Amino acid sequence: MYYKELSDTLNVILEEARDVIEQCSPEKLAGIKPSFLGRKGKLAKAMKLLGQISPEQKRDAGKLANQVKEELEKLFTGVCVPTKVIGTQFDVTLPGRKPVLGGLHPIRQVLRETIEVFYGMGFSVVEGPEIETEYYNFDALNTPDDHPARDIQDTFYLPGEGWLLRTQTSPVQIRVMESQKPPVRVIVPGRCFRRDAIDPTHYYAFHQCEGLYVDKDVTLADLKGVLTIYAQRILGSNAKIRFRPHFFPFTEPSVEYDFSCPKCDGSGCRMCKGTGWLEISGAGMVDPEVLKAVGYDPDIYQGYAWGMGIERVAMVKYGIDDIRLLYENDMAFLRQFR
Ligand code: DAH
Repeated sequence: MYYKELSDTLNVILEEARDVIEQCSPEKLAGIKPSFLGRKGKLAKAMKLLGQISPEQKRDAGKLANQVKEELEKLFTGVCVPTKVIGTQFDVTLPGRKPVLGGLHPIRQVLRETIEVFYGMGFSVVEGPEIETEYYNFDALNTPDDHPARDIQDTFYLPGEGWLLRTQTSPVQIRVMESQKPPVRVIVPGRCFRRDAIDPTHYYAFHQCEGLYVDKDVTLADLKGVLTIYAQRILGSNAKIRFRPHFFPFTEPSVEYDFSCPKCDGSGCRMCKGTGWLEISGAGMVDPEVLKAVGYDPDIYQGYAWGMGIERVAMVKYGIDDIRLLYENDMAFLRQFR
């Protein structure tokens, strides 16, 4: 019985407070506050009923009284001064919504960092089309007609003679060299596409960052230096790189390069399968045939080039073991990179 009386009284007080606040100017709020919340105010008076409430109901009653007290505090601090908004009233006593801050996707973060590092070393950034011709994607890159990369199993061919989705950023090397004389110093970030079956290390779309440097007296050692600095800026100053012999139609010699494992610093762990190294991508000295095809004299100019997988770099940097995580838009995963 006393509980009901208390709760009714509290509700009346709350209603009254709302009415009063609605009608009074913000400056006068402070003056009215004690009549509700002061030591001799309406709330304090109502609280006296608390003493008469049965022990079983006391906890609930206390809770209710506290809620009303908090509500009143809010009303009087102006946090929830009833306001008219475009003619309709909205419930200012509702808790606010926390604004959600977005963040850059880890692929975008690595792309931006990559661009920043090479830009800092004097490379300019160029882009090329994602829809390419067979000529730029393969022919001009010295890729033989029977090379397996041309297979429809690897390449998305488009309707119409000779059109495809680029399988690499390398065709932009040709576009750049066709349009300017050496020296050349560019990087080409961008998306590529391959008809790969999806698994932990393959996805049908991915990002590469191509690099091309053509000048006089250029050697593989210059390439190693540039990629070492890149690895150290992305993974930390202990990072090292290594070259392994490989083959690409458009480079001679060709290499694949690895970064030392950032997790174990090269001593061998689960992430690098005990080898201490993680494969990043391909590189090499631009094949003289490619230079000739764009009208550069290979007796005067040499060049190095590389194409790195950005997803691969992101996976190495953040210890991600499945490329699909980068494409599923799972917020719990992405939030870790904010
Ligand atoms: N385009 C090659 C690929 O996607 C990677 C590559 C290798 C790029 C050697 C280069 C290079 O520029 O010189 O597998």
